[in-house]
Amino acid sequence: MMLIFGLMLLLQTAACLEVNCSFDRSDPCYAALEHKLNLLMVDAREYDLHLKKRINNNTADGPVCRIKNGRMRMSECDLYNNRPEVTVINGTLIIKRVNRSDSGDYRLTLYNSNGTVTSRDLQVIVEAAIGSVEVSIICFSSGVMRVSCSSEGDQLLYNWTLNGGPLMDGNSSIDLDERTDGDISCSVKNHVSHAQKTIRLVCPTVCSVSVVFVLVWCLQLMVLFGLLGAFHIYMRHTSGKKEEDEKVRMRRFRERHEHTAEDS
Ligand SMILES: *[C@@H]1O[C@H](CO)[C@@H](O)[C@H](O)[C@H]1NC(C)=O
Ligand SMILES: *[C@@H]1O[C@H](CO)[C@@H](O)[C@H](O)[C@H]1NC(C)=O
Repeated sequence: MMLIFGLMLLLQTAACLEVNCSFDRSDPCYAALEHKLNLLMVDAREYDLHLKKRINNNTADGPVCRIKNGRMRMSECDLYNNRPEVTVINGTLIIKRVNRSDSGDYRLTLYNSNGTVTSRDLQVIVEAAIGSVEVSIICFSSGVMRVSCSSEGDQLLYNWTLNGGPLMDGNSSIDLDERTDGDISCSVKNHVSHAQKTIRLVCPTVCSVSVVFVLVWCLQLMVLFGLLGAFHIYMRHTSGKKEEDEKVRMRRFRERHEHTAEDS
């Protein structure tokens, strides 16, 4: 049962976070780091397209990507130079693995066959998706129970619920009375993903256990380093000995050689 649950969790986090953004929108397009981003442009067969990254709000233009007849040639696409994971299919620019440098202000310029030129802008913001959520509890002698929530990802927003009811707090930790009972859940979200974790409110009494754990761990490390050191000394010793043996043998050989030369 645990195994199946673990597999399901794994599948959930491994799922591809695909984002579709269109050049028509005025709000920013949030893309998930290392996931897929589809930039919907237009029917590329009707236009020649120039996709440009704007630097410093138009004072200078960055690299351009030219798309002709719905096709992007790498030689005409400085913007995605050395990025084989970027393609254009039917007027959609597909970035299979978004990286941090894909953030920025883009301008799409459309050249119609009858000579009209129009342009559209889009801001892309890349955020790392949320990793696993951890919730921990510390109880103080003052009777305060502090619940803390942690996770990886960019621009995290925290929300707490106690036994299903919302708690008014947007921080990564909250203080409760230690007599508070029930389940607490922390949900974390950003623009590209969300995750949550629920735990039972209990003051932890596992302090002694964790000390023992740390001690055992230190002991293991010491034994490991001891073994490594011993191995190192052993290797040096044997290789030094070998060198010496070699020298002795060479000397003997030379001596014998000289003797035979004198004899003859
Ligand atoms: C993005 O667009 C494609 C093609 O239109 C569609 O199949 C897919 O479900 C969309 N994905 C999202 C997350 O909206
Ligand atoms: C592109 O769009 C056309 C018409 O909408 C469709 O027939 C064709 O299958 C699409 N091609 C791809 C590769 O999606």
